[in-house]
Amino acid sequence: MSGESQYDQRARYDALMEVARNRMTTRQFDPNYVVPREHYELILEAARHAPSGANAQPWHYIVITKPEIKKAIADYFVEEQRLRARLKMKFPTPNYRGLETAPGLIVVASDFRWTRAFPVLLDGSDLDRKYHENAERILLQSVAASTMSAHLAAAALGYNVWWITAIGQEHAQRALKPLLGVPDELAVIDIFCFGPAAKPPYKRWKKDLNQIMNWDRFDMANYMTIEQIDAWVKDKRSQVMYRDESKVD
Ligand SMILES: Cc1cc2nc3c(=O)[nH]c(=O)nc-3n(C[C@H](O)[C@H](O)[C@H](O)COP(=O)(O)O)c2cc1C
Repeated sequence: MSGESQYDQRARYDALMEVARNRMTTRQFDPNYVVPREHYELILEAARHAPSGANAQPWHYIVITKPEIKKAIADYFVEEQRLRARLKMKFPTPNYRGLETAPGLIVVASDFRWTRAFPVLLDGSDLDRKYHENAERILLQSVAASTMSAHLAAAALGYNVWWITAIGQEHAQRALKPLLGVPDELAVIDIFCFGPAAKPPYKRWKKDLNQIMNWDRFDMANYMTIEQIDAWVKDKRSQVMYRDESKVD
């Protein structure tokens, strides 16, 4: 008898958790490292196996190897960051120059026409609009599931990762699509950078298990009022984004 049943393969779980726990964001990479071509394939092979609504697999990945394209993307983000500062958005923005020297950079695109594959009416009615909203959520969750598989694969290879979404707006789409030859009907969803970190990465604060886990019904201890959320955004957000978990007060 092997000590583990089919559904209690603790060693496999522990290996997975080792990767999940140590998937850490870095925003500045070693600029001299070159990602072997095979690693891009290993990483996107993991993305390929992700689940998706209606098994539509509505994702496209564009591996960027040319330094001039990385620079153009970084330039765009720095510009966007300035715009946000002018709009007084007060979001603690990182230094997006790190994009330019990220050894691995993959653009994630999707095709919202695939919402047609999900439950929608396609008759232009109000009800159709509501189903469409949900269909968009299905699409985005599908792309996120695949992207997360890619991030975990990169983490499993030993890399640090950076998930960047600051690009949803119309003007970002207009700036990035021609640069990447992305057809108009598609949307650039986010950017995935990976590589060895330039400085030692740190583990960020995560909620405790009992703060996210509810049994049979929602535990109101986990409910936050809008005032509590606003207070969190004001006092905690930048700490949890930019500090080691041991330095969050
Ligand atoms: C959906 C999503 C969007 C994100 N967008 C950005 C972004 O636009 N810019 C950025 O610097 N980090 C972004 N991040 C990274 C988060 O800031 C980071 O995951 C979070 O601070 C937790 O740190 P950890 O990844 O080390 O656990 C994003 C992460 C996710 C999952």
